[in-house]
Amino acid sequence: MGTIIRSFTSRKPSEIMRIIVTTFIGVVFGFFLGVSFPTLSITKLNLPSGLLPSIDLSYIGDRYTGSYPWSFTKNNNRSSPRYRLSNDTSKIWVPSNPRGAERLPPGIVDAESDFYLRRLWGKPSEDLTTKPKYLVTFTVGLDQRDNIDKAVKKFSENFTILLFHYDGRTTEWEELEWSKKAIHVSARKQTKWWYAKRFLHPDIVAPYDYIFIWDEDLGVEHFDAEEYLKLVRKHGLDISQPGLEPNKGLVWQMTKRRGESEVHKVTEEKPGWCSDPHVPPCAAFVEIMAPVFSRDAWRCVWHMIQNDLVHGWGLDFALRKCVEPAHEKIGVVDAQWIVHQGIPSLGNQGETAEVGKPPRHGVKDRCRTEWTMFQNRLAYAENAYYKSMGIDMSNSTSP
Ligand SMILES: *[C@@H]1O[C@H](CO)[C@@H](O)[C@H](O)[C@H]1NC(C)=O
Ligand SMILES: *[C@@H]1O[C@H](CO)[C@@H](O)[C@H](O)[C@H]1NC(C)=O
Ligand SMILES: *[C@@H]1O[C@H](CO)[C@@H](O)[C@H](O)[C@H]1NC(C)=O
Ligand SMILES: *[C@@H]1O[C@H](CO)[C@@H](O)[C@H](O)[C@H]1NC(C)=O
Repeated sequence: MGTIIRSFTSRKPSEIMRIIVTTFIGVVFGFFLGVSFPTLSITKLNLPSGLLPSIDLSYIGDRYTGSYPWSFTKNNNRSSPRYRLSNDTSKIWVPSNPRGAERLPPGIVDAESDFYLRRLWGKPSEDLTTKPKYLVTFTVGLDQRDNIDKAVKKFSENFTILLFHYDGRTTEWEELEWSKKAIHVSARKQTKWWYAKRFLHPDIVAPYDYIFIWDEDLGVEHFDAEEYLKLVRKHGLDISQPGLEPNKGLVWQMTKRRGESEVHKVTEEKPGWCSDPHVPPCAAFVEIMAPVFSRDAWRCVWHMIQNDLVHGWGLDFALRKCVEPAHEKIGVVDAQWIVHQGIPSLGNQGETAEVGKPPRHGVKDRCRTEWTMFQNRLAYAENAYYKSMGIDMSNSTSP
């Protein structure tokens, strides 16, 4: 036992961080498999198996001596008839539990998690001194460390900070004080939406009221996250982004910052770009570089992200499927604004099959292809749905 603790605490910080990440991945994975957290994490840490029986026995002994206290505190419904559909009353089967967990008594089902870091000692109930209400993620390479350092300082202690490292260089970040409390996930040459799909499952990020999923090349001099969220709440925005400094050759009118307002939700575009003033890119639209989602909006958007379409192109046009009415709940915050510096980063790390073309082209090509694929899948899925419902949508303008 003593040697275990010593060897554990004598590890380098970077190793501990890696273990934290490994554990976290284990939690996510275990969550899906319905495997309980302690078992998996202990396995992952490779503690000697001799340790296990004593832990298990004392744990079980403390907890389950005497009668079974059927306290359904964690889950909602106490009306017992719904719990038993089978005549074999000694077997637990709870249909209202999360899928796959029906054999567990609801009182033990912990269906959601978080990114709060815990201690290895002391009482679990006293581990957390704060529970940040917001989450911000940046997808980063070490080259942008200074910029991310500036950006993080615009987010108060009410934020959990999660960095996705696409260049494998995580150690150098530890020189920054805040980085020691951040969560680091490292996987080489992956995109923001790849990480988001894998590490931001709605049940994992459930404690956070708002989730920022941001690029690394944003200038935040005129931005304050708490002030931003005040405006988001005031104007009822479920999906939002800060306005973009206009003098940077922006593509879309909608995300351009306006000097005179707090928030805007509609815009005029070039003639013919919008079939309806309430659809993108004239309304119900933010870009994918710096989106902010409410918990409920993210629960929907996460499901729309495709596992194989990693660049997220086209997602911005489809976000409106997740909130209703979209032209009122999606908007751009003008009073807290950012500059898109447009520094090529991950885009330069692609590869192209064609000789003589820079890697960047291979990435751009894939972005466009993904956009088309996403649009087609969405249209196909919608048609299939309406057809299955016996509804004729052939005259619909829904893009
Ligand atoms: C609990 O069960 C009752 C009766 O089956 C049902 O009417 C009620 O909606 C349920 N409540 C929740 C929160 O699921
Ligand atoms: C439960 O018991 C009743 C009466 O003995 C029987 O008719 C029914 O099929 C049983 N149901 C199940 C799920 O075993
Ligand atoms: C953090 O949240 C608390 C509770 O909402 C609030 O009182 C506090 O002002 C926030 N911190 C900052 C820096 O805004
Ligand atoms: C669709 O449009 C065609 C021609 O304009 C019309 O004949 C048909 O009734 C319309 N169908 C529906 C479901 O509105």
